[in-house]
Amino acid sequence: KSIVILISGRGSNMEAVVRAARREGWQTRIAAVISNRADAPGLEFARQQQIPAVVVPSGGHTDRAAFDRLLQQEIDRYSPDLLVLAGFMRILTPGFVEHYAGRMMNIHPSLLPSFPGMHTHRQALAAGVKVHGATVHFVTATLDHGPIIAQQAIAVRPDDTEASLAERVLEIEHPLYVDAVRSFIDGRLSIENGCVRIKDKV
Ligand code: GRF
Repeated sequence: KSIVILISGRGSNMEAVVRAARREGWQTRIAAVISNRADAPGLEFARQQQIPAVVVPSGGHTDRAAFDRLLQQEIDRYSPDLLVLAGFMRILTPGFVEHYAGRMMNIHPSLLPSFPGMHTHRQALAAGVKVHGATVHFVTATLDHGPIIAQQAIAVRPDDTEASLAERVLEIEHPLYVDAVRSFIDGRLSIENGCVRIKDKV
């Protein structure tokens, strides 16, 4: 099996998946890490790991679809079984999403369906929620929607700031994403009536 990971920045979720794959000896190749930004810090880690680190610049296109077509072409050179979005800050067109239906996942730093979109930690603090967290989901054409694969909650503390919340949520994101990717790779995920079922490991 093979995985392509898309990033736009730091890439700590990508790094967690790559490290787990190596540590646990997954029978899976991380075929490429692709960024829409040449200055994404995560690219350096991919290079150090001898993973092809590819840049498909998102700037300068006439429309979203033009970029998505180029991106799709690049991704499909690696024929991935799974496309992992890890801090990939682009809204994808329906055609692109359709092409990877059921084999593209994303991590979002909130307990979806609460707080989709940007500034999730700010939204959570403004709403005064007492629990917050992270969600891994299959990607559909609606932003931060799609069948939920895994979620984990953390308690919001009275003195939390956007930064402190982001930091604690990120800590739970890494193992959560690794588990979700591992279950996909193991063939333990299925979608039934729009909901994800995860079979236990035998
Ligand atoms: C994470 O919080 C992720 O949930 C969100 O963007 C952040 C990316 O962090 N979509 P990193 O690039 O994986 O370090």
